[in-house]
Amino acid sequence: AMDEDNVGTVKQQLAKLCEASLRATVPDESSLEPLVAPCTGKFGDYQCNNAMSLWAKIKGKKTEFKGPPSVGQAIMRNLPQSEMIESCSVAGPGFVNIILSDKWIAKSIQKMLEKGIGIWAPKLPITRAVVDFSSPNIAKEMHVGHLRSTIIGDTLARMFEYSNVEVLRRNHVGDWGTQFGMLIEFLFETFPNWEDAGEQAIGDLQAFYKASKLKFDVDSDFKEKAQQAVVRLQGGDPKYRKAWEQICEISRREFNQVYQRLGVHLEEKGESFYNPYIPGVLEALSNQGLIEESEGARVIFIEGKNIPLIVVKSDGGFNYASTDLTALWYRLNEEKAEWIVYVTDVGQSMHFEMVFSAAKRAGWLPADDKLYPRTSHVGFGLVLGDDGKRFRTRASDVVRLVDLLDEAKSRCKAALVERGKAAEWTAEELEQTAEAIGYGAVKYADLKNNRLTNYTFSFDQMLNDKGNTAVYLLYAHARICSIIRKSGKEIEELKKTGTIVLGHADERALGLHLLQFADIVEEACTNLLPNVLCEYLYNLSEYFTRFYSNCQVVGSAEETSRLLLCEATAVVMRKCFYLLGIEPVYKI
Ligand code: ARG
Repeated sequence: AMDEDNVGTVKQQLAKLCEASLRATVPDESSLEPLVAPCTGKFGDYQCNNAMSLWAKIKGKKTEFKGPPSVGQAIMRNLPQSEMIESCSVAGPGFVNIILSDKWIAKSIQKMLEKGIGIWAPKLPITRAVVDFSSPNIAKEMHVGHLRSTIIGDTLARMFEYSNVEVLRRNHVGDWGTQFGMLIEFLFETFPNWEDAGEQAIGDLQAFYKASKLKFDVDSDFKEKAQQAVVRLQGGDPKYRKAWEQICEISRREFNQVYQRLGVHLEEKGESFYNPYIPGVLEALSNQGLIEESEGARVIFIEGKNIPLIVVKSDGGFNYASTDLTALWYRLNEEKAEWIVYVTDVGQSMHFEMVFSAAKRAGWLPADDKLYPRTSHVGFGLVLGDDGKRFRTRASDVVRLVDLLDEAKSRCKAALVERGKAAEWTAEELEQTAEAIGYGAVKYADLKNNRLTNYTFSFDQMLNDKGNTAVYLLYAHARICSIIRKSGKEIEELKKTGTIVLGHADERALGLHLLQFADIVEEACTNLLPNVLCEYLYNLSEYFTRFYSNCQVVGSAEETSRLLLCEATAVVMRKCFYLLGIEPVYKI
C-alpha cells in the first residue's frame, strides 16, 4: 500500500501538473522540464517559472504568443484541474503563482498522520547508492574529521534511505599500506609471544603506533625489516596475515564503540578488500591506453591538471589512488551503484576530482556530472577550537572522540540534576536523556552549518537551551508531546474521527511548512546538504511557536483539529531528528 500512497513531494506533484500544461501549451516542443519552486513573495505558495525560457525557445517561430507574459497566461490556463490548487495568477515576465488549497493541505497532513510519514518520501532518480563515510585508519586515532564524516555521512545515508534508495554504507577504513610492515615487525620484536598474549600484547594501539614509528624513523635495520614485512604481508604469508588481522581487530573494536554510541551503522569494506582487484582494473585501463609511464611510476594524465594521478608507485606498489579507482570500479560494476558519495574533509577534493576524471576518461562515468551513474565528493571544513585554530585539547594534540561524547553527556546530566530531575526520574531515564541530548547536541552543532564552512566547537554554545540548538529543539518537541498528553485526549482516536481545518493564518503557515518537509529532504539529498534539513527543523519550531501563541489549543472550539496539528508537528520533528541521527526525548 505504501508505494501507491507515496505521492512524492509537493514540488514533484505540482511539476506533474505543470508538465501537462506545458505539453498542452506548446505541443510541438519536446523535452519540457517543468521548473517549479516555492515562492518567496506573498502572491503564491509555489510558482512555475517556465515562461521565459519557453519564450526564448519559441519566439522565432510562428505562435499565438507575444511574449513571456502571454506564455505564462497560457501555462496557467492549461494547468489541469486539481484539488491541490486554490488559485493562480501570472506575475511579471510570466511567473505563474500557485496558491495551494487549504483543504488539500489539511487533507494531506491528515493522510500522513493516518498512513505514516513514509508516504511523503521524495522520489529520487536512483535506486542504489554508496555512501563512503567515516573511514578512519587502522592504528591511528579517529579524530574530529572522522567524527564529521561519520555524522554527515550517516545523515545523508538516512535521507537516501527515507527516499527509498538502497544505501550501501561503506566504511573505507585504511587497513592496507606500508605502515603495517612497521606495525607487524614491531609486534614481532616487542612481543615475541604475541600470538598467545593476544590483544593484551598491544594494549593501547595509538601508543603502539607511536612507538613503532619512532623506531622506524631512527633504526635503519628495523626499517628494512618493516619493508620486507610489507612484502610478506602482501604476498599472503599466513603469519603476517594473522598479525595484521589482530591489529585490525583492535582498531575495529575501538571504532565500533564510537559508532555504537552515535547510533551509526556502517559496513566495513576497507582498502584491503579492493587489493586483489587492482591489477585487473589497471590492466583494463592500460589496454585502453590510459596509463602512461612517468618518472618510473605509472600514471593517468588528467586534462587541466599539472600533475598526473599516480596509480602504481615507482617501487611497484599500489597507493590510495589505485585503491580508490578500483573501489569505484567495483561499486559501479559489481555493486551497481548509481550514485557514489564520498564524505571526507575538503583537503581531499583534488584526489577525488582526479579519480573521477580518470573514471570519465575510461568511460565508466558519463562526462556530464548531473547524469547517473554519478560520483560526488562531499567535502567539509575544519572543526576549530575557541582560539580559532584547529581543534585540539590541552592534554594531547588530537581530540579523542569518546572524550568529547563523554563530556557532552556529563554536562547534560549535570544540567538535568540541577533542575531536580535526579529526584523526579529513574537513574536510567536520567542517563538516557543526558545521552540523547548530549550526543544530539554534538551532531546538530556539526550538521547545522553548511558543511564546507569551518565551525567552532563549543560545548557552551551547543548545549544552550535557547537558539538554534538540539537542546532547544528537543525541548520544543517534548513540550508538544506534553501538550497532547495533558489534553487528556486519545490522539489515535482523534486521528480516526477528527478533521484538520486550517482556519487561522498561523495554522495554515504551519500546515504548509509541514507539507514542505519532503521538498526539503529532496533538496538536502540532491545537494548533499544536511544543514538544509536543520534549517527546516528550526523554522518548523518557530512556525509552531507562532501557531501556539496565537491559537488556543486545549479547551477551544478547534481543539481536535489543533491537537492533530500538534501531533503532525511532533511527527515531522521526530522524523527530522531521526534523519539527523538524534534521539528524541519525551520528558523534560
Ligand atoms: N581513510 C581516509 C582518511 O582517513 C578516508 C577514506 C575516504 N574514502 C575513500 N574512498 N578514499 O583520510
